[in-house]
Amino acid sequence: MSNSSAGAGSRVDYLVNPVDRPLQGRIRVPGDKSISHRVVILASLAEGVSGCSGFLDSADTRATVSAMRRMGVQIIQEDNYLSIHGAGLHGLSAPPDILDLGNSGTSARLLLGALAGQRFASTLSGDESLVRRPMRRVADPLNAMNAEVRITPQGTLPAQITGNRRLRAIDYELPVASAQLKSALLLAGLYAEGRTVITEPAPTRDHTERLLAHFACPVKRSGKRITIDSGVLQANDIHIPGDISSAAFFLVAGCIVPGSDLLIEGVGLNPTRRAVLDILKLMGADITTSNIVEAAGEPLADLRVKYRPLQGISIPVDLVPGAIDEFPAIMVAACYAAGETVLRGAQELRVKESDRIQALAHGLERTGIGAETRPDGLSVTGGRPGAATVDSYGDHRIAMAFSLAGLGAAGPITVRNCKNVDTSFPGFTGCAAEVGWEIKAAHAG
Ligand code: S3P
Repeated sequence: MSNSSAGAGSRVDYLVNPVDRPLQGRIRVPGDKSISHRVVILASLAEGVSGCSGFLDSADTRATVSAMRRMGVQIIQEDNYLSIHGAGLHGLSAPPDILDLGNSGTSARLLLGALAGQRFASTLSGDESLVRRPMRRVADPLNAMNAEVRITPQGTLPAQITGNRRLRAIDYELPVASAQLKSALLLAGLYAEGRTVITEPAPTRDHTERLLAHFACPVKRSGKRITIDSGVLQANDIHIPGDISSAAFFLVAGCIVPGSDLLIEGVGLNPTRRAVLDILKLMGADITTSNIVEAAGEPLADLRVKYRPLQGISIPVDLVPGAIDEFPAIMVAACYAAGETVLRGAQELRVKESDRIQALAHGLERTGIGAETRPDGLSVTGGRPGAATVDSYGDHRIAMAFSLAGLGAAGPITVRNCKNVDTSFPGFTGCAAEVGWEIKAAHAG
């Protein structure tokens, strides 16, 4: 596997020494990444000014903000608060050159959908990881809607969007359970003549649908079918909950360090995103939820995790889409659980920021933990990881997962290429330190 660490400047490695006392404390994790991207895109296409608190200010979401600004949208940022001056559905202007979306698959796929309906041409590209990720799944249905989206013969970025096409609605069955693909088609559906109908093979995160409703453009769902008509979006204020995908690393930390007791406040608990809780509870985790409230159509709550020994399980396949980003953390939980944990039906993990099935198996093997891969998942046999140096392959969630593996290991774990942790969780090492999880970040190379 090649090293896909992205970005300029020096490499960042993490060193985690095993902890000898419980993790304790109360923390907040940064805002939800999926919702942050969507708010920027939808509020930019709305009429009026939307205020957004709790915005995740990370490398990935900055790529979306920068793309919208380069198409003429005024976005004013003060810390984690954004004022987004919507340009309206037809108010964007042609970007001066290629829109570089860095490491961010969500920016690329959602913007393909939004840009397919514009009156101007645009080109999207990204870093060495993003230009390897599959885009045909998005380009094909957009072209079936009469867009003109050209990608490489390998089905990857860069993508050239001709623009100035009259989009037609389609009735489309998604070949993969992908919220990014669904969202791209919903965004294109806003520009299409007629009613766009999308059928999902399994429910995926529904933030786009909830936000469209929040911006006064209702989307209808009936079973697996989602329908959207072309329409106008109205600006609205929003608070973005903490990202459960970031909280997952702390949930697992609390599960694996004896005596731990952690409270993570204000975490998004959208039913399509909370399967990590179900999976960890099936493994025996002690996680409780309190202070459930709703903000802008999204539920959020405080999560408390207390140490309790875990058991290996066979992860129910129907829980996979709802925890797709949490498997790096969950498979580290598995390496501290008694017996074997089996993951199947997760072939999408092969096309994330890295091939996460390979990246996890390689890293776990280096620590001496038995891991067996198959095309759609892996099995991990619990034990005690040993001292090791592992590579994150430039993948933020693999980097955080192996920092987690170091907590109860027999010796220090060094994780190489952790710079991309900033794509989703700026301040990760500081947040970890607050609860007694020491991660030394060293600039190398
Ligand atoms: C996301 C959807 C998922 C997820 C990604 C974010 C989104 O990807 O893995 O991190 O914001 O819609 P897929 O749509 O490829 O499943």
